[in-house]
Amino acid sequence: MRDRIVAGNWKMNMNAEEARSLYASLKQNTEGIMPKSKVVIAPPSIYLSEFSNNLSDNVLLAAQNCSENNNGAYTGEISASMLVELGVSYCLVGHSERRQYQKEDGALLKKKVDLLLDNQVTPIFCCGETLGERENGNAFKVVENQLNDSIFHLTDKQIVNVVIAYEPVWAIGTGKTASSDQAQEIHGFIRNLIKYRYSAEIADEISILYGGSCKPENAAELFSQADIDGGLIGGASLKADSFIDIVQA
Ligand code: PGA
Repeated sequence: MRDRIVAGNWKMNMNAEEARSLYASLKQNTEGIMPKSKVVIAPPSIYLSEFSNNLSDNVLLAAQNCSENNNGAYTGEISASMLVELGVSYCLVGHSERRQYQKEDGALLKKKVDLLLDNQVTPIFCCGETLGERENGNAFKVVENQLNDSIFHLTDKQIVNVVIAYEPVWAIGTGKTASSDQAQEIHGFIRNLIKYRYSAEIADEISILYGGSCKPENAAELFSQADIDGGLIGGASLKADSFIDIVQA
């Protein structure tokens, strides 16, 4: 049975004091949630080391990014092997903000996915279409291409260790959420692609999260859809109350 996961993407928010206090509050208020559901946070990487010294059984750590290289002369980068040393369990790959601002493309993301898996860090692979792509009727094709470019080269054994996050770009940080029908339609499509590329058993094992203006008011309905296994939460993960409400949903 696949994992149900709620992951908070803090992006470049929170000063050190705020980050410490949010982490403490999440640890305290998520007791007993795992293993039924997994609670994950992706703070700015500068806080990972401190949090990893205070690791909790309730909240798992994710990085927001890692290098596509193993190690060496890459100023400013962090490697997958450094993440695993800190007890980081997951790493976001291919978030639309990095695709847009850092110009990350499918071939680069593929290298990151490979390195993370080699280091036993679970990639949370993000995909999703822009508003223009949806309006042109290309949403399905765009998502399929993103999966083909960066994760569908993996073997059966590898792909089951990937989490997919479908995040329509037009819903991220905009307050516009995909309706539960719209989200389910693409999630079902993604699961079918996995079924045809791999097998029904493998498709059934992979968690597919929804992201994009997910909040306490819409989380329960989104998460009740057959192929939505949780959420990747941006804005609403920055307050303990709203994040915990989403986790409860
Ligand atoms: P949002 O962000 O919840 O603020 O829309 C989601 C994300 O970027 O992962």
